[in-house]
This record gives sequence, structure tokens and C-alpha cells, in this order.
Amino acid sequence: MKIAVFVSGGGTNLQAIIDNTKTGILKDIEIVKVVSSSPDAYALTRAADNGIPAVVLRTRDFASREEWDRKVVEEVTSSGAELIVLAGYLSLLGPEIVKAYSNRIINIHPALIPSFCGEGMYGIRPHRAALARGVKVSGATVHFVNENYDEGPILLQKSVDVLPGDTPETLQKRIMQNCEWEILPRAIRLIADGKVVIENNLARITE
Ligand code: GAR
Repeated sequence: MKIAVFVSGGGTNLQAIIDNTKTGILKDIEIVKVVSSSPDAYALTRAADNGIPAVVLRTRDFASREEWDRKVVEEVTSSGAELIVLAGYLSLLGPEIVKAYSNRIINIHPALIPSFCGEGMYGIRPHRAALARGVKVSGATVHFVNENYDEGPILLQKSVDVLPGDTPETLQKRIMQNCEWEILPRAIRLIADGKVVIENNLARITE
């Protein structure tokens, strides 16, 4: 299966996918395109180091959001990608791409949805909010993407304990290492194997 990976920052989740295509559970998966919302994303270096074609598509470089949305559709369609993976992608996708790839876009969110999600809850912020609320577990969620932030069907979740003395940074690191880098590749595997059914806005994993 061919996939496109959308990024905005450091790209550690992209790296986890790349590593799994080489020596892990994604050996038959090809990353055919990386799309970045920022020219400064270190994820672009990771793509270049691995010979993966990459493109920067920023809304501000287009006359309108509609034009930007159309260009996103064009880039992904021409790459032949069958699945879009949002791996630390911090922009809201446009309606054209969401429609064109309905039930074929997944996102990793660094909290247990429906906690600490929605607009403005990205990067370190969900971890700050989780500690401020005093939750005893947190984690990560892979979900399908619709036109609203963090709202589509949940596919996978994994939790970790919040530990005494945790800072947003230590919690973020534990969740990335123990949850995100594991469940995002696992979600791609399940979809590639045709083991995911979406019914009534719920994702079900089949045998
Ligand atoms: C990750 O923690 C990811 O879950 C989060 O941004 C970070 C990106 O790290 N995504 C969101 O907050 C989306 N709402 P990375 O660039 O190193 O993969």
C-alpha cells in the first residue's frame, strides 16, 4: 500500500513509520509523499535522508484556502497514495481533501480522545492540560479524520500512567515513545490488511 504522510514539525512519528517500513511491521508499505505545512519542519530532512519526495504546502502561499485545498488533493492523488497519515500535522485539512479521501485519512493525537483534544490542543498543550486536570493516565489516539478537529472514528488508543513529578515534557516524551510510535504504525498495518470497518461513525477491527 502507498501512503502519504503529512507533517508540521520534528517528524518523530514519520521516523517511526519509516523505521517500520525498513525493519518492522510495514515492510510492504511505501511512503510516496511527505506533505509539510512548514518549510522549517525537521521532518523534511528525515524525508530527504530517506529519499522520500516531499512538498511544502502552506495556505498563505495560495490565493485562497480553496486553491490550497485543491493543490493538496492534486499532490496526493498524483502520488498514488491510498491512505493519508497525519503525523504531527497541525493544520486543519480542507473539505475537498477530506471528501476525496473519506475514511482514508488517519491522525495521531497525543491524548486519550475525547479528553484534551479539539482546536488549539496540539503539541505540548494536551500534556499541559492533562497535568493541570490531574489525570492519572494519559496516552495517544489514532482516529479517522473528518472536517472537524479530532472528531472522526477512533481506531486505536494506548495509555500510560501519569507519574508524580511529571512535567508536560516528560509526559509528552513517555507518550511518544510508549504510545504514538507504536500505535500509528499499527493502525497503518490494520488498514493495509483490510481489517478496519467503519460503521455508524465507529471504527471496528475485524479478525
Ligand atoms: C506528536 O506528539 C503528535 O501526536 C502531535 O504533535 C507531535 C508531533 O511530533 N500531534 C498533534 O498534537 C495533533 N493534534 P512529531 O513531529 O515528532 O511526530
